[in-house]
Amino acid sequence: MPANMATSMLLLGLIVIICTSVSLTYATSSQPNVIFIMGDDQGYRDIGYHGSLFKTPIMDKLAEEGVKLENYYVQFFCTPTRAQLMTGRYQIRMGLQNGVLDQDQKACLPLDEVTLAEKMQEAGYSTHLIGKWHLGLYREGCLPNNRGFDTFFGFLQGAEYFFSHDTPKGQLDFYRDFEPQWQYNGSYATHLYTDEAIDLINNKDPDKPMFMWLSHQAPHAPLEVPQQYSEPYRDIIEDDNRRTYAGMMACMDEGIGNVTEALKANGIYDNTIIIYTTDNGGPVWNSAYNWPLRAFKGSLFEGGIRGVGFVHSPLLSDKVKGTVSYELIHVSDWLPTLVEGIAGWTTEGTLPLDGINQWETIRDGRSSRRIELLHNIDPLTVLTEGGESWSDSPFDVRIKAAIRLGNWKLLTGDNGEAGWFAPPGVAGLDTEEGDVGDIVRLYNVKRDPEERNNLASKYRILVKCLLRKLARYYEESVEPIYTPHFPEEADPCKNGNNCVWGPWATEE
Ligand SMILES: *[C@@H]1O[C@H](CO)[C@@H](O)[C@H](O)[C@H]1NC(C)=O
Ligand SMILES: *[C@@H]1O[C@H](CO)[C@@H](O)[C@H](O)[C@H]1NC(C)=O
Repeated sequence: MPANMATSMLLLGLIVIICTSVSLTYATSSQPNVIFIMGDDQGYRDIGYHGSLFKTPIMDKLAEEGVKLENYYVQFFCTPTRAQLMTGRYQIRMGLQNGVLDQDQKACLPLDEVTLAEKMQEAGYSTHLIGKWHLGLYREGCLPNNRGFDTFFGFLQGAEYFFSHDTPKGQLDFYRDFEPQWQYNGSYATHLYTDEAIDLINNKDPDKPMFMWLSHQAPHAPLEVPQQYSEPYRDIIEDDNRRTYAGMMACMDEGIGNVTEALKANGIYDNTIIIYTTDNGGPVWNSAYNWPLRAFKGSLFEGGIRGVGFVHSPLLSDKVKGTVSYELIHVSDWLPTLVEGIAGWTTEGTLPLDGINQWETIRDGRSSRRIELLHNIDPLTVLTEGGESWSDSPFDVRIKAAIRLGNWKLLTGDNGEAGWFAPPGVAGLDTEEGDVGDIVRLYNVKRDPEERNNLASKYRILVKCLLRKLARYYEESVEPIYTPHFPEEADPCKNGNNCVWGPWATEE
């Protein structure tokens, strides 16, 4: 093309770039609110639009008017997912590879990590945690108010009773900021968390955007719900536990509706982004199901890590509203997505991120820049035998690990023989056992999301490439921080804490 035409094309390009950045700058002067809602131990199957017998009409509608994330991953357990949400980093970098943190371990989300909540504070947001924390409690510096949350109303551990807020009976774990709360005994957690969210929305500072992590306790065990919520399923779901679980989901669904109404009533819905995610795959032993995905919570098969996720907001571009995104998105992506993409702030100051800003992918339907995803490497879960035929591997295949590259996923080590678990009472679905343990497995999860055809022996070169990637990540890993248990020191009825779970040590 002639030089002057090229110049004018270039100019046009520049103008487009300038205009785009102008509109971005403009957007940051009215930073959107973020209501980030998390369900706890909810299975991939356990939402209306994935075919559950129970209904979740409000979440279904929010998802249907927004973007459903259908190539979306969380972690295999609760603490690692929450740690990655808070830091934008893989858990191999902070020692949380092996699972959850217990209340009697001298460990928490490492204190040198900069959290999502801290970055949102810097970006000018008020920050609120409602519900579950589960990122450590042994010393005061570990608690939510010291990790970037202006306010906290909820509990510190992984699970507790929904009405009495204790675990076991009589040992309270319920806080407003640093103050134990005894007076809510008898009130159901999902109602309390919904009311708290609505209160914060009603009293929102008009000059400050709001970031709320509504970290629901439901539908995690113990399975408890006011009867009015499970009753409608009396003739639909025969299994008692599954029926209670359905009620827990119904109550949470109703609560999410109430929160959405509060946003509208306060005139802030139009400038708010509602994000929904699960925290890990469903534990079938607690009535959560991932059908048709393989296995369950704790596993690196899809049933352990593929999340339910959607984003709802009037701020999404029209062309993505009502669509399904099959772009690869991971829980570690939320930190840069919220901080850079939504708040228009910088992620400078955090430790090096694994997460990617996915805001344009979600808002505009652009391709995700993520092609690789390390699911985990857990050096504490190692088979003592097997893997002889992989002795030339750059990575010790006896270690439990999984990595994703494009549509391909490699698993090594003890991934069990778990099969496919059918939710009870659904005609035509039957639980199937898995195949007996191949130590190296390769699946094309796009074509074979149920992970039925191990292609490792067919694609040896691809397997080698993925093993080399695992070896590199393994070299970058830090030691797991799980320490011995100190049940006596941590026990709140023995350590002078008046039977309230909370910090029990002062030193590192
Ligand atoms: C809650 O109330 C029940 C019944 O009154 C009581 O047995 C239990 O100890 C209380 N729990 C807490 C944490 O206050
Ligand atoms: C939602 O609001 C209705 C009407 O105020 C109330 O009856 C219900 O308990 C609320 N649900 C939750 C989960 O808070």
